[in-house]
Amino acid sequence: MSDVRFDDKVVLVTGAGGGLGRSHALLFAKHGAKVVVNDLGGSLQGEGSGETPAQKVVEEIEAAGGKAVANYDSVSEQAGAEAMVKAAVDTFGRLDVVINNAGILRDTSFKKMDHDAFDAVLNVHLKGSFNVTKAAWPLFLEQGYGRVIMTSSAAGLYGNFGQTNYAAAKAGLIGMGQTLAQEGAKYNIHTNIIAPFAKSRMTETILPPEVLEHLDPNLVSPLVAWLCSDECTSNGQVYEVGAGLVTRLRWARTGPFAVVAKEGLTPEQVRDNWETIESMEGHTVCETIQDSLGQFMKHIKA
Ligand code: NAI
Repeated sequence: MSDVRFDDKVVLVTGAGGGLGRSHALLFAKHGAKVVVNDLGGSLQGEGSGETPAQKVVEEIEAAGGKAVANYDSVSEQAGAEAMVKAAVDTFGRLDVVINNAGILRDTSFKKMDHDAFDAVLNVHLKGSFNVTKAAWPLFLEQGYGRVIMTSSAAGLYGNFGQTNYAAAKAGLIGMGQTLAQEGAKYNIHTNIIAPFAKSRMTETILPPEVLEHLDPNLVSPLVAWLCSDECTSNGQVYEVGAGLVTRLRWARTGPFAVVAKEGLTPEQVRDNWETIESMEGHTVCETIQDSLGQFMKHIKA
């Protein structure tokens, strides 16, 4: 089997000055891609800025014989997102892949969460991924090719204490990514979503060293690279990845408990059938919205 290669491909990785983004950028470059290394260079909370992180990753790529250019714009600004896409086109002549990875944290319980903490996190993760993908989309449509990765999180999938802002943004990226997958399919634009688990400045203060040593970001980037390769046909899928584990997720549906629509439904019927509704035994899996609505339609016609 041949290697997964990105020769002649241009990849934009946001938030690539450290952690997972850096690892993605280095891997793409190693496999032949020209890389736009974007990073605002601020703190974990999204304060301040600096050119050093992105520039250092560019130097690392160049030292290994690869090609890269740095960009220091913020994903949360429309103009910034447009500038990073322009940097790809101006420097390397095209853009093929967008890895939406930039992120910040403003964790606090919902009781203490102020509007600024909510908006700041939504602006970087959710609006930022919209801004960058939106700026790249016309190029992807025109060339009939594009690959997009949305970086979600276990917090978005399952919720997490102290992360109402982050979890909302990360869950939003799943909906955005799955919708883009449907809109992009006929233009050969694929969008997939990852929920990674890796050592970075986001996790190194909350996880013990004996766990962190198994969480090299290099265990996440190979999935990202494969999803963005020409050969991979996956589109609109959600993967959990980290610590050497790679897995695909889907919604599971219980029961169903069902009544005839025209006969109505009472709270007592729901109560009396709660076990059927709650039990995962014999669950079905919906792959698409058609699968999901199909079950309702079948019930209506029955
Ligand atoms: P990180 O903090 O090392 O990386 C995030 C990068 O984004 C930083 O270098 C930061 O400067 C940059 N950034 C922040 N705001 C930006 C903006 N407005 N414009 C451009 N760049 C900006 O953390 P890590 O862990 O590498 O995070 C990468 C992504 O993975 C994030 O979206 C994060 O939410 C997600 N993630 C990470 C997990 C983990 O286990 N490390 C778990 C689940 C999700």
